[in-house]
Amino acid sequence: MTTFAAKTLVSQEYKALPPEVLKAKIARKKSEWGKKLVILMHHYQRKEIVPFGDHLGDSFGLSQKAAAEVEARHIVFCGVHFMAESADILARPEQHVYLPNPYAGCPMADMAQIEDVFFAWDEISRLVPADEITPVSYMNSAAVLKAFCGKNGGIVCTSSNVTKAFNWALSQRPKIFFFPDENLGLNAARMLKYDPADIIVWDFKKERGGNTPEQIKKARLILWKGYCHVHTNFRPEHIEEMRTRHPGVKIVVHPECIPEVVEKADAFGSTNFIVNYVKEQPPGSVIAIGTELNLVSRLADEHPDKKILDLSGQTCPICVNMFRTTLADLAFTLDCLGEVNEIIVEEDIKKDALLALNRMLEFLK
Ligand code: 13P
Ligand code: SF4
Repeated sequence: MTTFAAKTLVSQEYKALPPEVLKAKIARKKSEWGKKLVILMHHYQRKEIVPFGDHLGDSFGLSQKAAAEVEARHIVFCGVHFMAESADILARPEQHVYLPNPYAGCPMADMAQIEDVFFAWDEISRLVPADEITPVSYMNSAAVLKAFCGKNGGIVCTSSNVTKAFNWALSQRPKIFFFPDENLGLNAARMLKYDPADIIVWDFKKERGGNTPEQIKKARLILWKGYCHVHTNFRPEHIEEMRTRHPGVKIVVHPECIPEVVEKADAFGSTNFIVNYVKEQPPGSVIAIGTELNLVSRLADEHPDKKILDLSGQTCPICVNMFRTTLADLAFTLDCLGEVNEIIVEEDIKKDALLALNRMLEFLK
């Protein structure tokens, strides 16, 4: 269980303030706190928030920053709930972690509820000894799931190191149980040249996940049936259309997209990978990106010498949860540090989740 300290409110009074006033408030608090305050910023955050980040990055980079942070007393995570939870797990006992908008969750992370995972583990263990399976959890998961992995010899991974995680897991035990993103798992499996016959999908709503006992016994990779509703917007037809309309276009996508999209793209990788990919293309390039729209439009602003396009062209792939955090939320949280929007992971969960996160930081660099 994760709890929020005291108040988990977004101040109505702050919402009414003009952006310039809010920006001045944030800047004032940053200068008052100096190195005692660190703001971690995910790439999908709103444009007006991004300049206030001390570190801007993907889930892996930001967790490395959270783990290495020694001076800060307060760590404010502009991202979604699982990111702030992970920062709290990695933080020192005297540090406090905050999520400026307490309603910013990740629907994909919510698709793997711990009770359903326990139930699945139990069903699988009746057919395959549990010590033959390494559980691997995507960073986009609740702390309690990371704790489950830690406790059972497993590991956490992000989109930037999922293939390394699978290799590590296989060096421990012959089978992998990966959750909650089926597409990321399929894309990693393709990279690692898995035989599709060795992969099964676990639909927790069905008995034995919708598989026969033989399929479960034979499987080398069991993938939880979860997905990101933002990235599954992108379709192979978008790529075909883009290539017809813009011959020579470069297409880069996030690996939460379906495999049929990832296969047709020129490159794929984490949000950091996408940012660097765009930087590396020569002036005049046309680049279509299959990821969250806030990042795509910020990259378009930052690279006026390149034509940056949203791959879908029409589906408006916005992560509403990433979009929730406003200047008002950040200003309010900074003005009330220690009183609002603190993320506290319970100690027993923290202990096991830390095992899995530390394995990632140690083995998947
Ligand atoms: P990254 O780790 O690539 O930043 O991705 C996080 C995420 O939530 C993508 O939807
Ligand atoms: Fe979750 Fe998808 Fe939003 Fe990433 S983009 S935080 S996976 S809902």
